[in-house]
Formats: sequence, structure tokens, C-alpha cells
Amino acid sequence: MSHFAQIARVPGDPILGLMEAYRSDRNPAKLDLGVGVYKDAQGLTPIPRAVKLAEQRLVDSETTKSYIGGHGDALFCSHLARLVLGAASPLLAEQRAAASQTPGGTGALRLAADFIGHCLPGRGIWLSDPTWPIHETIFAEAGLRVGHYPYVGADNRLNVEAMIAALSHLPQGDVVLLHACCHNPTGFDLAQDDWRRVLEVIKARELLPVIDFAYQGFGDGLEQDAWAVRLFASELSELLITSSCSKNFGLYRERTGALIVCTSEAEKLLDVRSQLAFIARNLWSTPPAHGAAVVATILDDGELRKLWRDELEAMRQRVAGLRLGLVEALRPYGLAERFAHIAEQRGMFSYTGLSPQQVQRLRDQYGVYMVGSGRANVAGLDSERLDALAQAIARVCSS
Ligand code: LMR
Repeated sequence: MSHFAQIARVPGDPILGLMEAYRSDRNPAKLDLGVGVYKDAQGLTPIPRAVKLAEQRLVDSETTKSYIGGHGDALFCSHLARLVLGAASPLLAEQRAAASQTPGGTGALRLAADFIGHCLPGRGIWLSDPTWPIHETIFAEAGLRVGHYPYVGADNRLNVEAMIAALSHLPQGDVVLLHACCHNPTGFDLAQDDWRRVLEVIKARELLPVIDFAYQGFGDGLEQDAWAVRLFASELSELLITSSCSKNFGLYRERTGALIVCTSEAEKLLDVRSQLAFIARNLWSTPPAHGAAVVATILDDGELRKLWRDELEAMRQRVAGLRLGLVEALRPYGLAERFAHIAEQRGMFSYTGLSPQQVQRLRDQYGVYMVGSGRANVAGLDSERLDALAQAIARVCSS
């Protein structure tokens, strides 16, 4: 008898699978606009200098590899909560908010999903249409009812009216997942007035927001990107925020993130955190130490912190410049208007509006890899190759 005979094969991950396909492509002109990692002018995903310096300090000073606690590295958690909520946040002063370290932003989402599943049974979660595909599966795997609210219309533009209308009819008490900035996969972010309107609906329907904050510093700046998160934290008594250090610290493979919980009272925060520690113990026991120690070392040191902020700002500006550059490179082909949204979007990703067939042709004929939905990782571009990419796009658009 075979125990495994009935096990079917599931399709590979649509985003990580692209990395492997790209690696095995022998086309010397290939271009990877798939998975969301930043690349520099040399096409490398650099380790920030601040990270290297912090790692060196850790090598010299680390005295043990014993476990860190269930909520992770306390110094990391305290700095990250301040980075997200603001150093002057009254919630932190009143001990009504705290971070639990998780293996990356994905771990934070999984912890949030299991927390909702265990502690708030029966609540559905509502995701933007479209959203990061892993949002769909994480919450479904945790047993939550998953629904969608419209976000981008058929014209590939943000549709705030449809979003607000849908949120206004959600079951009272349900959970809504929002992207703080640099919406993945579209790159379309809400304006401040839109956020205020969403907040009013959330209050009226008594919804619980989970804000996914994976790209702090990649949109309009470190503080600017936190605007909506801080508005919600100041106006709502309860809130979950998932934060990632993968992109802004370049710590992708170190799996460094946190789930930040805001509550109405300090006592309630302790109750919630006891549940999180219980759930995390069953998921990963204690989180990995290295990435969090690096972040804590950087944020705890004035010089390293400044160096990191400058490096992050340079990455942000480079991506913003590439967006403008691509639209300009498309101009000679009469496509600047059609793709003007690429310059208006924020963060790493652009929902280009290219069809799955056009994406496939870009890959087969020009070695350009992007996600089938038409999502391109602009942070994977390089200014020397904008013209070649524009030409390839023009060719697939004209036939
Ligand atoms: C992406 O969407 O490409 C990134 O968030 C990386 C990932 O884990 O999918």
C-alpha cells in the first residue's frame, strides 16, 4: 500500500516559480521583473552598508545562540513599533500597542490569520481585488471566509468609489485587509482623503482592519508611508499591523517582520499577546534571531540609523526614477499616455495593464519575466535597458 498514492501535485508558486524559470533561461538579454526584490544598477540585490556594519558588530559581540523569547527580540520589537507608529505615539506610551517578532511579513500575516481564526471565530476577511496571491491562501488556510472588495477597475485605474461602496456593505465586525502603501500587485495607493473615507466606513461598520505594511520607505518616504497607519492607530481603538523588514532593510532571506497589535487598554494588550505567543509557539516556536538583531542594532545607533535611512531613500528614488524613465522610453512608440500610470504608481510594483498573452510573449520572445497578471517589479529594472524593454512592450502591444 502506498500512503502517498493519492497525493496530487499542486501548481508551483506563481511568483517564486518565476525566479527559477528566470535562472534557467539562457537568453543573455533576459530581464527579471518578477519577484519583488530591489536591484541596483549592476542588477544585484545589495546588502545595505548599514546591515553589513551591524552584522560585523554582532559577530564581534554576540555571546549566545540560545532562544529568544516567544515575542522575539525585545529591542527589535520596541524600535519597530516606534518606526511604524511614530516615536511619539500615545499608544506606545500608554502600553496599548506592541510588536511581536515574526518570520518576515508573511509570518506576521499568518500569525494574524490564526489569531483571527482562533480568537474571533466566524469573522470573514475582505481582501482587495486584486491582492498579493499569498493573502488569499494564508487566510483561507487559517479557516477564514475570504471575500473581496473592488480596488482596480477594468480600465486599470484605482476605483475608490467601488471600494467604499463595497466596504459599506460588509458584515458588521468582519476584518478588512488594507495595504498601507505600495499596493501589491498594482502600485496604486489611496490618497489621504480616500483613507479618511475608508476610516469612516470602518468605524460605521465596526470592522477590524489588518494593515499590511511591507514596503515602508519605498513609496513616498519612511514617515510619509506611515501616514495612514498612524491615522488609523490614532482614530481606532483596535488594529492589527503586519510589518516587514525584507525590502526596506534588504533582509529578504533573514525573514524579519512583526505583528503589531493596538488595543483600547493596556490590560487587553496582555490578553491578546498571550494568545499570540501561544499561537506562535505552535507555528514556529520562537522567531529567528539574526535579522531582528541586525535591525535592532541599526535602529538603536544614531549613525547606523542615518546611514540606513539614506540608503533606503536612495533605493526609493532610484525606483521612482525608473518609473519616469520607462514612461519616457515608451514615448517614441506613442505609448507614453497609455502607460502614464506607471509613473503615478508607488513602490516596487506596477500593474502595467499588459494582458497574460502579452506577458507570455514578452517572456518567450524577449526574455522579460513578469507575473502573469501583468505585474512588473519596477525595482528590477535598469536604466540602460529601458529602451530595449520599451521596444519589446511596443512590439507585443502592436500585434
Ligand atoms: C512579491 O510579491 O513578489 C514579494 O512580496 C515576494 C513574495 O514573497 O512574493
